[in-house]
Amino acid sequence: MAAIATDTHPYGRVSRLFHWGMAALFAWQFVTVGARVLLPDGALDDFLWPTHKPLGALLMLLVVLRLVWALVDRTRRPPSLNLAAHLGHLALYALMVAVPLVALMRQYGSGRAFSPFGIPLMSGFEGEIEWMTAIGGIFHGLLGWVLLALVVGHVGMAILHRRLSDENVLARMAPHAGQSR
Ligand code: HEM
Ligand code: HEM
Repeated sequence: MAAIATDTHPYGRVSRLFHWGMAALFAWQFVTVGARVLLPDGALDDFLWPTHKPLGALLMLLVVLRLVWALVDRTRRPPSLNLAAHLGHLALYALMVAVPLVALMRQYGSGRAFSPFGIPLMSGFEGEIEWMTAIGGIFHGLLGWVLLALVVGHVGMAILHRRLSDENVLARMAPHAGQSR
């Protein structure tokens, strides 16, 4: 049976840039909600929370570009380690799309104007589209926490694979940092 060379075939530069750049932005996103949920109202929360919506809108744009790139690049990528890894990555993509999408739907449905980074994305209108605000209200926070749980599992699996098996999977996404085991 042919063995899959997991540590000799890394993801390309663009895929790595998307992965680590967006990982940093997602980390910031979760820090903003963490501060909002865990800390009393104060200067830190006042500084962090206003970045949540614009950064979330930027992540929406980036995930669409990343999906297009993943399709273009699919024949050059290292093969999935196993079915669970493949399904895990698909679930991450599904949530990376769904979480900001339902929030933007809620924002639109609220009728309030929205200009992330000063760019007039939604001009606002009189009234409200209730089904949009309802879907966002039910699913945004819920799916956001599910995404966080999945990311924790994803990072845990990357570390476990590196420690407990011959598959130096980290080297696929961080070829320089992942060389030595
Ligand atoms: C991918 C990016 C995003 C992530 C990971 C994320 C994550 C989260 C999480 C986990 C919560 C729940 C906090 C709680 O339980 O109180 C939350 C709340 C919130 N988010 Fe986001 N969010 C993202 C994008 C956005 C966008 C694009 C908007 C609006 C344009 C937005 C607006 C809000 C608002 C208003 C709340 C507070 C109300 C609520 O809990 O639903 N978020 N976000
Ligand atoms: C410290 C944090 C992280 C580490 C150490 C890490 C590690 C890795 C590794 C080693 C791979 C390659 C796995 C393989 O080929 O089987 C990978 C792929 C992937 N990771 Fe992460 N990851 C991190 C954060 C994140 C975050 C925050 C997300 C999304 C919210 C994410 C989403 C993905 C996706 C979708 C893939 C599949 C390849 C792609 O299409 O980009 N990762 N990650």
